[in-house]
Amino acid sequence: MDFQNTREFAQQLDAKDKLAKYRDEFIFPHVNGKQVIYFTGNSLGLQPKRTKAYVDEVMDDWAKLAVEGHFYADKPWWDYQERFAAPLSKIVGALPSEVTVMNTLTVNLHLLMVSFYRPIKKRYKIICEEKAFPSDQYMIQTQVKFHGFDPADAIVEIKRRKGEHNIRLEDVLATIDQVGDELALVLIGGVNYYTGQVFDMKTITKAGQAAGAYVGWDLAHAAGNIALELHDWNVDFAAWCSYKYMNSGPGNASGCFVHEMHHNDLDLPRFAGWWGHNKERRFLMEPQFNPVRGADGWQVSNLPILSLAPYLASVEMFDEVGMPALIQKRDQITSYLEFILHEIDHEVHGNFEILTPTEPAERACQLSVFLHGEGRALFDYLMKAGVIVDWREPNVIRLAPVPFYCSYEDMYEFGQVLKAGILSHKK
Ligand SMILES: Cc1ncc(COP(=O)(O)O)c(C=O)c1O
Repeated sequence: MDFQNTREFAQQLDAKDKLAKYRDEFIFPHVNGKQVIYFTGNSLGLQPKRTKAYVDEVMDDWAKLAVEGHFYADKPWWDYQERFAAPLSKIVGALPSEVTVMNTLTVNLHLLMVSFYRPIKKRYKIICEEKAFPSDQYMIQTQVKFHGFDPADAIVEIKRRKGEHNIRLEDVLATIDQVGDELALVLIGGVNYYTGQVFDMKTITKAGQAAGAYVGWDLAHAAGNIALELHDWNVDFAAWCSYKYMNSGPGNASGCFVHEMHHNDLDLPRFAGWWGHNKERRFLMEPQFNPVRGADGWQVSNLPILSLAPYLASVEMFDEVGMPALIQKRDQITSYLEFILHEIDHEVHGNFEILTPTEPAERACQLSVFLHGEGRALFDYLMKAGVIVDWREPNVIRLAPVPFYCSYEDMYEFGQVLKAGILSHKK
């Protein structure tokens, strides 16, 4: 499509947008009395208006039923997570039995590594991406040390080539090949948090497993953002947070995937708790752990219902809209944002560099832009003008035009604010 950098054109795109009505389903903050342009849904998604009713329901049930709410609430608490199985499995391309919700993301990756990182003398190495999200780096380092290995030797990072911002698939595959039979685990962020690069999970999973390793994914920036086929790709395990694209609220619960092929393997070690125990026999208080044959068998504690309520509101919303419609708008609005950035760059004689891949298959809902020559003052200007962006050193802004609630007019308006901000600093 030929885009235009005009308000009228952006408004025409909004008028044709089938998801436009969902914008009104979210609560936007205001700056100086004006609704913000929100680009940080890759960090914390906006609050859906319907969420409060889900939380209120739990508060009311707790008030009216107290402990009886576990069994007699409209949505009983004891198996509340089962309500996620159908909608969440569609979002991540899994069987309903392959997903569960529990804890938070890093905690879940640690728990899953208990099962899927079991290094032995010969096979102990982990491949991850260079500059992975810090929590993943700390997690991997401490897991390696916990097993008595040296992180400097056991962790193999896939590097970016000199002068390139993104990791090449061929380099991932070559690294897997080199590490060969020393490889115990491949664990990568499915969408890189800094650049927005989307990895070819199917190909990497196949290659890692062919080398005899398990393959897991941190899907913090992928769940609710990209098309996932975790079951068909034969992924061993994955986990994601729900507070980014899934709009479930700050620090909220994580989702987990464990492939069906592992459900009946009772030799897989795991750190167990009573909520992973056979549901029908859980309250018999038996001494011997007998896990649920499914991802639910990795649950540890009883469920944080007040956290799960907003997450349930979110997955039901995703189910209503469907990932294909979100992905279709995501691609168009991201391309429009890219066009606007090029236009403004040209108009202000700037020197913007988009770090995110240009190939649609390698990117999703995020453009990371290196604003060469601009300082933090520009970020402050944008924030004061009601454009909520994320700033990373040295001077990269990350922009996520979330299809659920961002409009095409937001993209146009952002361009105008960006231009005014840069020109005002050049004076
Ligand atoms: C890629 C990635 N991994 C892990 C985390 C850590 O998540 P949590 O604090 O929920 O454990 C984040 C948080 O933003 C993230 O972006």
